[in-house]
Amino acid sequence: MAILLGEWRRHGSRQGAADLAAAVELHVLDGQLPIGTRLPAERELATALGVSRTLIGAALDRLREDGLVASRQGAGSWVAGTGTRRAEPELAGGNALIDLAKAAPPALPGMTAAVDAARQDLSAYLSGNGYITGGLPVLRERLAERYTARGLPTTPDQVIVVNGAYSAFVLCLRMLAGPGDRVLVEQPTYPNALDALRAAHAQPVPVALDPVGGWDLAGFEAAVRQAAPRFGYLVVDFQNPTGLRLDAAGRERLAGMLTRSHTPVVVDESLVELDYEGDPVHGPPPFAALGGELTLTVGSAAKTYWGGLRLGWIRGSTELLDRLLSSRYAIDLGPPVFDQLVLASMMEPAGYEALAKRRHDFRGQRDALVAALRTHCPNWTFVVPSGGLSLWCKLPEAMSTRLAVSAANHGVQLAPGSRFGVHGGLERWIRLPFGLPSGQLEDAVRRLAAASASISGCANVPAVDVAVT
Ligand SMILES: Cc1ncc(COP(=O)(O)O)c(C=O)c1O
Repeated sequence: MAILLGEWRRHGSRQGAADLAAAVELHVLDGQLPIGTRLPAERELATALGVSRTLIGAALDRLREDGLVASRQGAGSWVAGTGTRRAEPELAGGNALIDLAKAAPPALPGMTAAVDAARQDLSAYLSGNGYITGGLPVLRERLAERYTARGLPTTPDQVIVVNGAYSAFVLCLRMLAGPGDRVLVEQPTYPNALDALRAAHAQPVPVALDPVGGWDLAGFEAAVRQAAPRFGYLVVDFQNPTGLRLDAAGRERLAGMLTRSHTPVVVDESLVELDYEGDPVHGPPPFAALGGELTLTVGSAAKTYWGGLRLGWIRGSTELLDRLLSSRYAIDLGPPVFDQLVLASMMEPAGYEALAKRRHDFRGQRDALVAALRTHCPNWTFVVPSGGLSLWCKLPEAMSTRLAVSAANHGVQLAPGSRFGVHGGLERWIRLPFGLPSGQLEDAVRRLAAASASISGCANVPAVDVAVT
């Protein structure tokens, strides 16, 4: 615990109970203090950290209030949860906490009209039992049409509907790999995928993604040759967190290599529709159009329509989908009918018009975030992504976790860079999502600049190296 909190201690002279509680919370969220971990006695911790017992007691009180820690007389204290029970705190002056820890936007306008339409359509299903494991035919048809329009001819039986893209990934993982198996991933990557791999006792094999140069194709080839992974997990369209997109030539080379080595690949297209420079139908060819029969494509309604629908889908060969469906029963019995009707209604022309407006708005939000950073944090550098939902910022020093702790005290919740790495690290990086309105993003950046100044000891002056934008 003292080692984990070492960074906190190094900067501890100016910090109080709130900072210590926030540091513990970050390690809980990071998975470095898993639920159930016993905490040292107050006195021991106070000695190890060189602080007073009063400060430790106050930090523990905060953590207990937030549901992160539980204690019982005689039994000590232990990590009890991830703090999700906590009510959203109000900051002094009525400023609500700004959540930049999640890269997820609100519902697409038009959702209530789609709910009304779904209510009309529902009656046709009520005489059936409602268990349609692969998903509603009407939705599978619309999803197949969208793939076909994007240059990937698809029939409805090549698509199944699941409870979100994360659930899709977990289903694929269960089918393709078991404990001890190696799985190729980008580094940095989507943190929940890493959590799922850890939970399945699989071994992620990371290949670095260069924020400027992108996918190190030779590195991927070497990793496949040397590690012989059971499958690869790739996010080649507006990757989370970097926002990068792999170009057509890169896709062809990577897909060809994976096909030749008979390596299955799960391609996560959760963010593919959020293209701000072009038309999502006419982007680079979908990875599956270049890959072989062992390609599974995962999609999500969360970024385009709404995360609250909890719907995603998997496109693949009918043979692989049959295998997925038969193993699905161990997890759930199919997606909800009503929500699928809502999504099917959103996937009509009016929904696509709303989506075009969303792209326009998100592009404006991205630009507002970029402008605010250049004004208030001029020594943070980044490549402006042409799509997706986040900026991957390089900080002037290795301070991502400290920044996240300090930012929480300034009213901004952040996911530190270490969340996106296989073995943590990435302390010079922070992900900044731009799914919130521009005004809130500008406010958040002002708070981040103050948080950064309070910890880094260096003012936010432009760095000597030129910003890579
Ligand atoms: C790359 C990626 N995959 C999957 C998901 C989760 O999607 P869903 O909400 O559909 O489960 C996200 C959400 O942030 C994501 O960024």
